[in-house]
Amino acid sequence: MKLVVAVVRTDRVNKVLEALFRADIRGLTITRVQGHGGELEKVETYRGTTVKMELSEKVRIEIGVSDHFVEPTVKAILGSARTGDVGDGKIFVLPVEKVWRIRTGEEDQAAVTPLFPAAEENGGER
Ligand SMILES: Nc1ncnc2c1ncn2[C@@H]1O[C@H](COP(=O)(O)OP(=O)(O)OP(=O)(O)O)[C@@H](O)[C@H]1O
Ligand SMILES: [Mg+2]
Repeated sequence: MKLVVAVVRTDRVNKVLEALFRADIRGLTITRVQGHGGELEKVETYRGTTVKMELSEKVRIEIGVSDHFVEPTVKAILGSARTGDVGDGKIFVLPVEKVWRIRTGEEDQAAVTPLFPAAEENGGER
C-alpha cells in the first residue's frame, strides 16, 4: 500500500475531488495547510535579518491506496490540479506499512479496497 499525499491550490480542490471520484478513488483525508513553495514574493524583517518567506494557503489531500492505484491516483491529481503557474503544488508517494479498516478488522489491501453500495447494505461507505 501507498499513501499519496498531494498539496494543491485551494481553488483546485473541487476539480481534484471530481477527478479522483471519476478514477474510482473513494477514501481520502483533506486538511487545510500553510506551505512554502520557494516563491520569494514577500520580504520580512526578523531580528534585523532579512528573510524571504511566504506562506500560502494550500490543501493537503491524503489517499491510502493499493499499489496498482497509485498511477491512476497521481494522474487524476496531475490532470486536475495543474494550472501551469508556479505554486501548483506537489505530490508525494509514501510507503505504508499497515492498514486496518476498523469496522471489519480487514487489513492491508482489503482495507483500502472501496466497498460499493451493491456489496454493502449500509451504503458502501469506504
Ligand atoms: N519539498 C517540499 N516538501 C513539503 N512540502 C512542499 C515541498 N515543496 C512544496 N511543498 C508544498 O507544496 C506547496 C506548493 O508548492 P509549489 O507548488 O510552490 O512547489 P514548487 O516545487 O515550488 O513548484 P512551482 O515551481 O510550481 O512553484 C507549498 O506551499 C508547500 O505546502
Ligand atoms: Mg513554488
